[in-house]
Amino acid sequence: MARDIRLHKSSICPAEPPGPSVFTDLPGPKTMELLEDLTQVTQAKSVRLFADYSKSIGNYLVDVDGNVFLDLLMQFSSLPLGYNHPSILNIFKDRKNLLSIANQPTLGAFPPSDYPESILFILMSIAPVGLCKVIPAVCDAVATENALKSAFITHKMKQRGKISFTQAEIESAMINLPPGSANVSILSFRGSFHGRTMGALSVSHAKYIHKMDIPAFNWPVASFPAYSYPLQQYNQENSREDERCLCEVEELIETFKKNDRPVAGIIIEPIQTVGGDNYASIYFFQKLQEITKQNSIPLIMDESNTGGGVTGKMWCHEHFSLPSPPDMVIFGKLAQVSGVYLKHEYM
Ligand SMILES: Cc1ncc(COP(=O)(O)O)c(C=O)c1O
Repeated sequence: MARDIRLHKSSICPAEPPGPSVFTDLPGPKTMELLEDLTQVTQAKSVRLFADYSKSIGNYLVDVDGNVFLDLLMQFSSLPLGYNHPSILNIFKDRKNLLSIANQPTLGAFPPSDYPESILFILMSIAPVGLCKVIPAVCDAVATENALKSAFITHKMKQRGKISFTQAEIESAMINLPPGSANVSILSFRGSFHGRTMGALSVSHAKYIHKMDIPAFNWPVASFPAYSYPLQQYNQENSREDERCLCEVEELIETFKKNDRPVAGIIIEPIQTVGGDNYASIYFFQKLQEITKQNSIPLIMDESNTGGGVTGKMWCHEHFSLPSPPDMVIFGKLAQVSGVYLKHEYM
């Protein structure tokens, strides 16, 4: 086994340091100096160190003080091939790609000529089975926003039965009131995280500090299963936990329907990450999908952290053997581009 690792290492990243090494107190003196500068003009409380990306390589992150760290998480799971991987660097040497970056095209209005090819043959080549549409986005939170908006619009279009809006809808939408601003909701789960923009925050419940002082929609929040481990030892307890959470979902759907704020979508991560390392059973996901189908509610899987092959399949939800694909899948991070894949009826 040890020999395999050495072979692998030498062929992929021969310049990697032999191991981590720390020379200064942490944070180091240069980081402290830079932090002082930055703090004068912006919020920098979360800065752990200033990196030297010219020296970082492979699995190793080097800071401005020369300390070398083994990065087990590859930033916030957003770096697929390690630091300064030649394949990634080469992308930026390609003049075509440079022109796209330098000219900041408004993709909705003036896309470059190779844009259709990139979407069709790159982005769609890894689309989850059954999801034939895509909305690219600048980050995962924006992808979440697009998924929520697609759920709302589809819900209202189905109700309306026609494309044209009433005058009352047009006028009320402009001042954030119903019927134009729809009274609908999205069901999310305790411990979830879907981004820091305003809509995404309303379906995020990982840390109070993300949400404090910020207005949020009063939408339904169900429990995400919390199992006892080892799983084999607590089979019965964990089955009861699945049923408890699924019942909660059904009750919330009913309550919000009665209260004139029907659930237009259910959003969930296949594995919760920011809110803890939280898993739910295959049974839970299959039954959850059954509930969404019975209620004609789209199931939105946020695969921001779990997509791109990191769980051994391209998409984590493929492990759940769902009878049919989820309705939307949010992607980003390791995929190096964000967006949402959708079934055709949601676009
Ligand atoms: C599951 C999930 N969804 C969405 C987001 C938001 O991603 P971004 O920071 O790219 O907007 C995150 C960020 O960590 C996430 O973990």
